[in-house]
Order: sequence, then C-alpha cells, then structure tokens
Amino acid sequence: MLELFTTLTLSAIFAFLLNKWKKSQNSKSTKKPPPGPRKLPIIGNLHQISNPPFRCFRDLSNQHGPLMHLQLGESTAVVVSSPELAKQMLKDLDPGFADKPRSTAGEIMFYNYSDIAICPYGGYWSQMRKLCINELLSPKMVRFSRSIRDDQLARLVESLRECSGRAVDLTEKILFNSNFFTCRVACGGVVEDNETLLRLILESTQVVVSFEVADLFPSWRIVSAMSWTRRRLKTMRCKLDKIMDDIIDRHRRNRLSGLGNSEFGSEDLVDVFLRVQEEGKLRYSITNDNIKAVLYDVFIGGTETSSTTIDWAMVELLRHPRVMAKAQGEVRQVLNGNNAEHTFKYLKLVIKETLRLHPPAPLVPRACKDEQVINGYTIPAGQQVFVNIWAMQRDPRYWNDPEKFEPERFEDQSVDFMGGDYHFLPFGTGKRMCPGMTFGLANVESALAQLLYHFDWKLPGGVRAQDLDMNENNGVTAARKHNLFVVATPYK
Ligand code: HEM
Repeated sequence: MLELFTTLTLSAIFAFLLNKWKKSQNSKSTKKPPPGPRKLPIIGNLHQISNPPFRCFRDLSNQHGPLMHLQLGESTAVVVSSPELAKQMLKDLDPGFADKPRSTAGEIMFYNYSDIAICPYGGYWSQMRKLCINELLSPKMVRFSRSIRDDQLARLVESLRECSGRAVDLTEKILFNSNFFTCRVACGGVVEDNETLLRLILESTQVVVSFEVADLFPSWRIVSAMSWTRRRLKTMRCKLDKIMDDIIDRHRRNRLSGLGNSEFGSEDLVDVFLRVQEEGKLRYSITNDNIKAVLYDVFIGGTETSSTTIDWAMVELLRHPRVMAKAQGEVRQVLNGNNAEHTFKYLKLVIKETLRLHPPAPLVPRACKDEQVINGYTIPAGQQVFVNIWAMQRDPRYWNDPEKFEPERFEDQSVDFMGGDYHFLPFGTGKRMCPGMTFGLANVESALAQLLYHFDWKLPGGVRAQDLDMNENNGVTAARKHNLFVVATPYK
C-alpha cells in the first residue's frame, strides 16, 4: 500500500513538473522578442553601442526596424523609433509604459528613486508630481515668478554688456543664469556653493546616461562592489547632501521665526514640502531625503534643459543670419512697441525648430509595468524602453528636408509639442509628460528675447559659423559638445 502511494505521489510530481516544463517551453517559443542586431556571447550588442547613444540607436534601427531589441551585457533594452509605436506605448497603453528603468545613478543620486523623474509609477510619484506642479510649475506660478525671471535676465544682460566687444563664453553665462533663476524660485535664493551644485548637475546627468558596468552585469557582484562609477557617485551624493542639508536647515530656521523663505516673503517650494511634512496629512509621508530628491529634479530640469535649448537656439541663429535678422526684427519691434500683451510669433517658431533638431532629452526612458505584446513581439514586465524622439524628429518620412533649420516649417502646420503629435515629442507625452513645460518655455523665450533685443551677435575673429561643431556631448540633455564663444555688441 505504502509502495503504491509512493509511486502515485512520485508520478504526480513528475507529471506536474513535466507539464510545467512543457508550458515554459511553449511560452518561450511563442514569446518572441523584437528583432535586433546579432548578439555576441556575454556582451550581447555592447560592441555596437557608441556615444551619443541616440545617434547610434537611430543607425541600428534603420537596419533592424523601429521596434528593436538590444542585449547590453546581462541587461536588455527595447528601442522605439516610430511615431506609431510611440503612440501605442505612451498613449494607447498608458500607464503600461509609465514606469522608469532602475540604475545605479538613480539609486544613489536620486535618493533611492524617490524623486519624480525616475521614480516608479504609483501613488508616491503622483503625490510629489502634483505638489511640484501646484507650487512651482503651473502657468499661474510661472506668471507669479516673472519678476524674478526679469531681474535675473537684467543681470545677465548687464554682465554681457560689461564684456561687450570681446569673446565671451555664452554657454556658461546662460547655464549660471538658468540655475540662479531656478534656485531663486524653488528655494528662495542662489545656493551658496553654486559652482559645486552646477558641477554635480552636469556630472551626474552625464553618468545617468552612461552604461554603467554594474547595471549591465548585475549578477557580477564583485564588479558592482569594485565599480569606480559607484564610488564616484557616492562622493557626488555626499557633496549634494551637504548642499541640500544647508538648504533645508536654513528653511527650518526661518520657518521657526515665522518667516517664509521666498523672495516675496511667502512660502517657496521647500517651505511647502516642510509644511506638509510637519502637518503629517499626506497619504505618503515624506522624509528629508524625499524632499532632496525632488528638489534635485527641479534643479536639473530648471537648469540644464532650458540652458541647453537657449544655447542651441543661439548656435542655429548664428549659423542662419536670415533667421537671426527676422527673429531680432520681431523682438525689437515688439519690445519697442510698449505692448504689455506682446507675443513673439516668429521667436516661438525658432524655439519649436530648435526643440525639433536638438531635443534636450533625446531618449525618453521608460519601463514596462506588466508584460505587453506589441506588433506580435513580447515586451516582458520590467523591460527598459528608450523612445528615440531625436530620431523621430529628424526622420525624412515625417519632415521635409529634416536636417535643415527652418522655423517656417511650423508656420502652416498645426504640429505642436503638447504630446499629441507623436513625431514631435520634445516634452514627452502621456502620464509622465514633462510637468515643467510652461516653466521651461517661459525661461527659454524670455532669455532669447532679451539676448536678441539688447545685442547684435557675431563669432570671434576667424571662426566661421558653418565650422561650428554641431556634435552633442553624452549628458542626459544632449547639450552641445563645446561651449559657444561669441562677441556681443550692445544695440543702441
Ligand atoms: C526646454 C525645457 C524642457 C524640456 C524639453 C523637457 C523635456 C522633458 C522630457 C522629454 C521628459 C520625459 C517625459 C516623458 O517621459 O514622457 C521630462 C520629464 C520631466 N521634466 Fe522636463 N523638460 C524641460 C524643462 C523642465 C523644467 C524647467 C522642469 C522643472 C523645473 C522639468 C522637470 C521635469 C520632471 C520633474 C520630469 C519627470 C516627470 C515624470 O516622470 O512624471 N522639466 N522633461
């Protein structure tokens, strides 16, 4: 009897395991990953990846299709390069692809993903995003911060006037200006150790997009433990902590004495975070680290994306004197007209065209929440996905003469960056679309208007506009590889 029972039990276990194995074999054969280049053992496609990745992804996608699978060491990536697929993933299946990929840089620099931009999709993310929009990024708040923006730009104009007639590093001036403005509106003043903050922003965004060996080979624990990048990130995080702690301490002190920290004497973004933290009524209670993570997002968003766009616009204007003259003519006519309700129609087209050719976030990183099937290919849960908006915005199937800088192309078509035209997504789309669009555009437009109004621009002696290097660096924001040096002549 015992023998029979044992035989039956063993047979049942065997049948169960056989069934499971068959199922797994079946699902393996039906679950097809998207096509991609041939993979080598261990490294996969790593040998085919070069910097900047969005250019190399575009070239590979031209051979392997708009839904492409890459093996990057032990990790994998899916690259999307067509508006139809971008719509499917970011709109039709939203929030199916509203998660964010994990990385060593995200864990260390963004306080274990507790910011907004790389935070997992869910209740905490939604709460922090809403707070930021209500207190800083909404159109109302952007109008409210206009006096600080104007004051900061007046300082920029003044400092350029002091350098007039000689070559000046415009890229650096614009970068500092955007950062000062962002710090003034978000935390009531310029950060004391501003140079370190800027260096951290530039360095950490560079690391976020580089392929870190510990992320590519997560099972090689020894590699991760010895990773030089990990140590570099930890050093950066210590410096960032010091700056952030100073900001929070200053705010706490002033709050105790009943003072708001904003330049208008009311609450700024940090005050609001501290108040809601103290009140303890939030659904997801927040720690100081959470406040630091979100503040770092705001510093990066407010500094790098806007200054990169202004910088590229100036480079393109210098390369296209006709466009420069037309934009400058409009700005001077409007600002000389004393019309408070002015709008810069042509300048807006220049900004659109700059964002088309030089999107500050060329690869929109997302991750798949649950398994999805797209065009017959399986995208597993957790898969990291890069939407190559840079490639789509230069694709000859959607744009005439796509490499040409021609603001007029937007004149007679209704293509906009509000997230509904999937071949033009400089601010992304769907649930995770950029919440800083109004804030960023206001900075870019007012800075360009002031630069064009107050100065005539030329390149330093011997440099020809057509010789300017148009390559990008490898940071998150695809800034120009080299700083722009120009000579500004004040407009009388
Ligand atoms: C020219 C200016 C800017 C451009 C082109 C830009 C572009 C982008 C893009 C492409 C994304 C990803 C969207 C997606 O996944 O669909 C993004 C996200 C984000 N941006 Fe911007 N951005 C700009 C300015 C700003 C500013 C000024 C701020 C804040 C001060 C900001 C804060 C953020 C944040 C917090 C996210 C993450 C949103 C989320 O994951 O929910 N951005 N931005």
